[in-house]
Amino acid sequence: MSQQIVISGVGIWTPEHSITNEELVDSYNAWVDAYNDDNKQAIEAGEIDAKPYSSAEFIEKASGIKQRYIYQKAGALDIDRMRPLIDDRPDDALSHQAEIALAAAKKALSAANKDASDVDAVIVSCAYTQRAYPAIAIEVQEALGIEGFAFDMLVACSAATFGMHRAYEMLCAGNAKCVLVINPELVSPQINYTDRDSHFIFGDVATATVLEHAETANAEHVYDVLSTKAVTKYSSNIRSNFGYMTRAQDVDPYGPDKLFHQAGRRVFKDVCPMAADHLSEHIERHNLTASDIRRWWLHQANINMNTLICKKLLGRDATADEAPIVLDEYANTASAGSVIAFGLNHEDLVKGDVGVLCSFGAGYSIGSLVIQKR
Ligand code: COA
Repeated sequence: MSQQIVISGVGIWTPEHSITNEELVDSYNAWVDAYNDDNKQAIEAGEIDAKPYSSAEFIEKASGIKQRYIYQKAGALDIDRMRPLIDDRPDDALSHQAEIALAAAKKALSAANKDASDVDAVIVSCAYTQRAYPAIAIEVQEALGIEGFAFDMLVACSAATFGMHRAYEMLCAGNAKCVLVINPELVSPQINYTDRDSHFIFGDVATATVLEHAETANAEHVYDVLSTKAVTKYSSNIRSNFGYMTRAQDVDPYGPDKLFHQAGRRVFKDVCPMAADHLSEHIERHNLTASDIRRWWLHQANINMNTLICKKLLGRDATADEAPIVLDEYANTASAGSVIAFGLNHEDLVKGDVGVLCSFGAGYSIGSLVIQKR
């Protein structure tokens, strides 16, 4: 069998519930009023600061986000709760994350014209798994009836591309024949809905891709993986400290530092040049320049980041056709953003067109794949 590895299917599961910026801000501002009222004396005495309002205009201008999807809307906008309400399921029931992973996986399998019996490895790669073990990937493997092996991996915002990299390598090594990579980004439980700086950033989604050898691919839209490239550089500027250690540390396991938090402006400044350099180096490997790339399926955290990165690469603004944006509708979906962009915008490419999938974020981490339509 040749070593040519392909992406032969992509699937996106989108939650039925959504929250607009206006709904989110109305809830946050009502929570602020209640907080400032409850803490009136301490605020007047200068002991604590009053909480400022959030604004839908700021959110759209600073990030490009207009709305986000959420797995369970109940609770997230309730000012007495400010977190989604998700039922606790017994050990013998399908877990929430496996449920959304399965939904995306089935769509990717169908796009790839594959049955579960064709697949022999499952990777669940995302920013958070809802438990440490048994792996969500093994639960999905069982639910689909897949023979072979499965494992979870966490690489924050780059989990989807890093997962595809591992699939590519497993296929090259001959350790698997067809790999399902799933990104169930159930991020809403980790959002601090009482934090003005970050309450608007994330949305839930699940994406999946099928990777296999070119010889076995029989889908309508198949992409040769020309190469993969990854880099990481340690930074605490995007961080979540939630974890099993909190039980031994006698701290609030849900305190603000245990939830997603970031130094957004620093991240913006650090990651944009890193991502632009990474992408130019990656396409240079193939003697390609930015103008040779038909489509950029970039990470979807902030529209201004994508605009800047494209400008650095192309020397001009990219059109929406060259670098599609999905974050206006989906918000930042951790690692799944570039896969959503790919899933919704790839069928019009013609044989020979080259595109680049790239994610970037916490770690810091950057992962990319240069792919070519078959
Ligand atoms: N509503 C109104 N004002 C707000 C606000 C909100 N929700 N959030 C912050 N502000 C205020 C700030 O307090 C600040 O006020 P000041 O100038 O009086 O101090 C001002 O708006 C600007 O805040 P800043 O945080 O500097 O905004 P920004 O332009 O950097 O945009 C992000 C914030 C988060 C959208 C942006 O930095 C970003 O997206 N960075 C990249 C993050 C990223 O990609 N992370 C990866 C995660 S996977």
